[in-house]
Amino acid sequence: MKKIVTILGARPQFVKAAVLSRVISNHQDLEEIIVHTGQHYDSNMSAVFFEEMQIPNPKYNLKVNGLGHGAMTGQMMEKIEEILLIEKPEAVVIYGDTNSTIAGALTAKKLHIKVIHIEAGLRSFNMKMPEEVNRILTDRISDLLLCPTSSSIDNLKNEGFDELSNLVVNCGDIMKDAVVYYSHTSEEKSSIISDLNLVSNEFVLATIHRQENTEDITKLKAVFEGLERISKTKQVVLPLHPRTKKILIDNALTYNLKFIDPIGYFDMLELLKNCNLVITDSGGLQKEAFFNKKNCIIAREETEWVELLDNGFARIVGSNSKDMMDAFEDFQNSTADFSIDLYGNNVGEKMHSEIVKLLNS
Ligand code: UD1
Repeated sequence: MKKIVTILGARPQFVKAAVLSRVISNHQDLEEIIVHTGQHYDSNMSAVFFEEMQIPNPKYNLKVNGLGHGAMTGQMMEKIEEILLIEKPEAVVIYGDTNSTIAGALTAKKLHIKVIHIEAGLRSFNMKMPEEVNRILTDRISDLLLCPTSSSIDNLKNEGFDELSNLVVNCGDIMKDAVVYYSHTSEEKSSIISDLNLVSNEFVLATIHRQENTEDITKLKAVFEGLERISKTKQVVLPLHPRTKKILIDNALTYNLKFIDPIGYFDMLELLKNCNLVITDSGGLQKEAFFNKKNCIIAREETEWVELLDNGFARIVGSNSKDMMDAFEDFQNSTADFSIDLYGNNVGEKMHSEIVKLLNS
């Protein structure tokens, strides 16, 4: 059986890996070894996803976290190299655009191990984002680029990938499979709506964690002021990332919002299903809003998921609190048809067959 090593470390990667690891274990034609870099380590940022989504236990946990970008990526690479030399896989699978992604890709490539990048081709065209740097470099050295959207394919064409030997395939977005697969279970297992005394459609779900928002205190304040304005009309529920929490505490910033600790996937799905709309700077949550038929206000200057903008499901407001309020009011008065297929179906199966094809070629 061909062996692959999956390298992951941050919350959104656990959601994506849950889908593909299940498909791989169903087919029983690949041996998958999971390496957790340790980038996310609090139990409600990591263990809860492995438990709820029944992701196979990582064989290795590198426990690299809480460092600057260079130290984090470098330490991960050093430890990943040792593991790849022991395991000798045919390919390494990496997800998305985090420091764990680039560390896995770069280490594998230098050992002449095939690199498979899931969620390839996305671009924000903002090179100040660490994620943009990570994804551009990862794409260039990946042997198989599994893209989620037609715009991600276009991005790669514009960068000249047609002339390169990297294989590029549009399989759709793997997070769609996760929503479809876990939606029923989350309803059974999560009691977050009653626990928090929430009324369906009467609250807004918000998350803010991106470095571009958290490293600039003026921006961060403006985003939270926007959320506080909205909370006068609808309650705002905000699961708080540890990074954002620390900055709010360090700067003695308090807001009249319903802050909760980070939550697992089932609770998140139930909040998504029951909320009025979503306000976020997360990439994944923008699509999860769409999958759950909710509009999304994006607290960033750009998005990689341009089809959400093009079809009017989402709007970019940056850190402008007035634009945030205007978007909120516009979405209250609009009804959208979410039936359009933007992200495909059966994505995990398609990815699995592309991986098997690559390894047999
Ligand atoms: C990382 C990704 C980002 C992704 C996000 C998902 C990079 C460059 N960024 O950002 O693309 O959207 O994950 O959530 O890889 N922390 C804890 N407990 C945890 C996890 C983090 O306290 O379980 C703290 C860390 O110690 C650190 C801060 O939060 O001080 C930021 O964590 P880090 O992993 O560096 O980046 P994220 O902001 O989570």
